[in-house]
Amino acid sequence: MALIDELLKEFKEKFGDEGDIRCYFAPGRVNLIGEHTDYNGGHVFPCALSMGNYAVARKRDDKIVRWFNATYPNDGVQEADITKLAPNDNGIWYDYQQGVIWEFEKHGYHVPSGYDMVMASDMPAGSGLSASASIEEVAAVILRDLFEIDMTMVDCAKMGQLSENEYNGMNCGIMDQFASAMGKKDCAIFLDTATLKYDYVPLNLKNEKIVITNSKVKHSLAGSAYNDRRRESETALSDLQKVVDIQTLGDLDEATFDKYADAIADDTCRKRAHHAVYENQRTIKAVDALKKGDLEAFGKLMNESHVSLRDDYEVSCKELDILAAEAWKIPGVIGSRMTGGGFGGCTVSIVKEDAVENFKETIAKNYKEQTGLDCEFYIADASEGARRL
Ligand code: GLA
Repeated sequence: MALIDELLKEFKEKFGDEGDIRCYFAPGRVNLIGEHTDYNGGHVFPCALSMGNYAVARKRDDKIVRWFNATYPNDGVQEADITKLAPNDNGIWYDYQQGVIWEFEKHGYHVPSGYDMVMASDMPAGSGLSASASIEEVAAVILRDLFEIDMTMVDCAKMGQLSENEYNGMNCGIMDQFASAMGKKDCAIFLDTATLKYDYVPLNLKNEKIVITNSKVKHSLAGSAYNDRRRESETALSDLQKVVDIQTLGDLDEATFDKYADAIADDTCRKRAHHAVYENQRTIKAVDALKKGDLEAFGKLMNESHVSLRDDYEVSCKELDILAAEAWKIPGVIGSRMTGGGFGGCTVSIVKEDAVENFKETIAKNYKEQTGLDCEFYIADASEGARRL
């Protein structure tokens, strides 16, 4: 049975089968290039996946929500009063849902009543593929649709990001929520995070696959280190602003950065800014190469992105470095890099179709030998964004 049909059944068993019951989906994402640029005013290039969070919902007449997540059945049915929500940093699935309601209200998107909901995910959690953004965006489309709220999907992305920042205490940029809300089949989204201007770029991969490799590790410093990187980038920016007229690190090209880099007092902050500036320029170049059909150039830039994340931004880890380095050696691999926030999670690789089997076998074997761990593979299928089904 398809997951959504199972959820529908579960919903009716738990909450009854009367009334207007609606189904929704919001995807996770994989970022092809442009990492840790989204809070630095740079570009990103993610696509929405076919994996994500499914939900079944029906409005209620009072202010209560009753939610059940079949992925975490031990949590039971969670009940809350939507007039009494309070920010916290627990990071549990219902906190991400609650945060979106809270943020909607804060921005004048009135949520008149609660709703009953059953949800579940078909994607690996904690793997850097944005399961949390997918929960936020499924919450946003539920509210928008159930209560006929007049807002765009870009607004849904913004509410998701702000809810994560302000309700859940995670200072993320907008990439993940934007990709989940705005995904398009067979395309990646070239997004300028400074202006939110975006362009759908067809992937046109005729003989290649996008292979995601899950390292199956998530190091505990991920959240705090993320917020540290943001602060270090901001310090670098304010040092630079004393000598050059810029709003964000994304305003600089490589030559201008090199010219003024000495204005950044702290060595670590200078390295962070070097990554942010060069990664943004790499992303622009990579998209240009893809549009011209030059996949080799795209792949090379992916590899350079990994090196910069490893050495300058220092958000990789031993396991991701092994996965990338092993991938680079395999014939038919066009490019490979860590994807997402880092400190574990996944790599993304572009691999020639006829090399995929060998890629999986070789990586699985060598990764196991070097780490003792079993990695997992998914073929990414660029898909539509959050929606009512
Ligand atoms: C996480 C954040 C995003 C982005 C990436 C790194 O996924 O949620 O906003 O900063 O890390 O590119």
